[in-house]
Amino acid sequence: MNQQDTDRAATLCWVEIGPRRYPIYIGSGLLSETDLLRRHIPKQQAMIVSNTTVADLYVDKLTEALTDKQCDTVILPDGEQFKNLDTLNQIFDQLLKQKHHRGTVIIAFGGGVIGDMAGFAASCYQRGVPFIQVPTTLLAQVDASVGGKTAVNHALGKNMIGAFHQPLAVIIDTDTLNTLATREFNAGLAEVIKYGLIHDMDFFAWLEGNINKIIAKEAQALQTMIYHCCQIKADIVAADETEQGIRALLNLGHTFGHAFENGLGYGQWLHGEAVAAGMVVAAELSQDLGYIQAEDVARVKQLLQQCQLPIAAPAALSIETCMDLMSVDKKVMDHRLRLVLLKSMGQGFVTDTVDTTAVIKALQTCGLDKEE
Ligand code: NAD
Ligand code: GLY
Repeated sequence: MNQQDTDRAATLCWVEIGPRRYPIYIGSGLLSETDLLRRHIPKQQAMIVSNTTVADLYVDKLTEALTDKQCDTVILPDGEQFKNLDTLNQIFDQLLKQKHHRGTVIIAFGGGVIGDMAGFAASCYQRGVPFIQVPTTLLAQVDASVGGKTAVNHALGKNMIGAFHQPLAVIIDTDTLNTLATREFNAGLAEVIKYGLIHDMDFFAWLEGNINKIIAKEAQALQTMIYHCCQIKADIVAADETEQGIRALLNLGHTFGHAFENGLGYGQWLHGEAVAAGMVVAAELSQDLGYIQAEDVARVKQLLQQCQLPIAAPAALSIETCMDLMSVDKKVMDHRLRLVLLKSMGQGFVTDTVDTTAVIKALQTCGLDKEE
C-alpha cells in the first residue's frame, strides 16, 4: 500500500494510466454519498445497468442521486448464463430507445457479470462511451471492477468476446456486502487470496491471521482487505494495462478455473470457486516442478478451505474435456498453453514451457480422471 488517502469516509486509491487515471473509492455508506457519483457524470444522461437482484435491493439509491438528469435503467436477468451477446443487446436496445448520445455515462451496478457486460456495452455503444463501476459483490470489488477488462461469454469459451475499456471511476460501498450470500462472498475471497499468492506474501500471511474477522465481515478488516487488493491490482494495471506481461499474473488459477466453469456449464460453479480449485492445481504443479514445497501447497489449501472454497477439481469433468477447453484459453499463444505458476509463495510467474504430461498429472492429483 503506497498511496492511501482519504475522501470523506472513503479510502482512495488511483489507477495511474496517464490522462485516463481514475479513482477507486472504498468505504461504508458510499451509495448515499451522492456527490461521489455525480462528480463523474458531467452531462445530462446516464444509464444504470443492473440485474433483478441488485436493482431490487439498491437501485433507488442511485436514481435518487440523479433526479435532475435523464437517468434510465436497464435491468438484466441475473446469472453468468446470461452473460452473452443476446443479453448485451438489451443494453443497446435501451440506450437507443431512450436516445442516449455519446455524452451519456453508463453505470455498471452489480457484480462482475454486470460490470463486464455494462463495460463492454460502453466500449461499443457509438464507438465508446464512458462508464462508472459500482461493484456490489466482493469479487467485483476486489478484482472485476478495476482494470478495464470487459467481456461476454461465447458458448465455446469464457469472456471470449470483449474489449479493454477503463471506467471513469470505481465506487465501492462495502455495506453492500451485508446482503451478499455467503457462497458469493467466499467466492470473492478466492481472488483476494490470489493477490497474496502472486504478489505479496505478507498480505497472504495477514489473511491467514485475520480470516475469522473477514468471514465475520468485520468492517475494518474488510475495508483494509479490499483497499489492499485494489491497490495491488491498480499497480499491476498501471504497469501493464493490456496484459502484455505482468498483468497475466492476475490469471493464477484461471486457465484451469475457466475450463472447470465452462465444462460444468456456466452457473454451476461460481467463478471464484472455479478459480480456487484452479489455484490448487497451479500450486500442485508448481510443487511438482520443484518451485514450492508440499507445506506451501498445504497452506494454500488450508486458507481456501477456511473460506469454504473447493480445493479439488470437479470430478464430473474428465481430463480430456479440461485439456480441450484450456486449448481455447485467451492465454494460449502459438498453440502453447501459458500458465501462471508460483516460483515461490508470493511470487507468480508465467510459463509456456510446461509439459502436457505434468499438467495432466496435476489435474489427476486434484481429482480428475481420464476418460475410459
Ligand atoms: P455475479 O455478478 O454473478 O454476482 C453474484 C450474485 O450476487 C448474483 O446473483 C448477483 O445478482 C448477486 N449480488 C450482487 N451484489 C449483491 C449484493 N450486494 N447483495 C446481494 N446479492 C448480490 O458474480 P461475481 O462473482 O460478482 O462476478 C463473476 C464475473 O466476474 C464472472 O463473469 C467473471 O468472468 C467476471 N470477472 C471479471 C474480471 C475482470 O477483470 N473484468 C475479473 C474477475 C471476474
Ligand atoms: N482479473 C484479471 C485481470 O483483470 O487482468
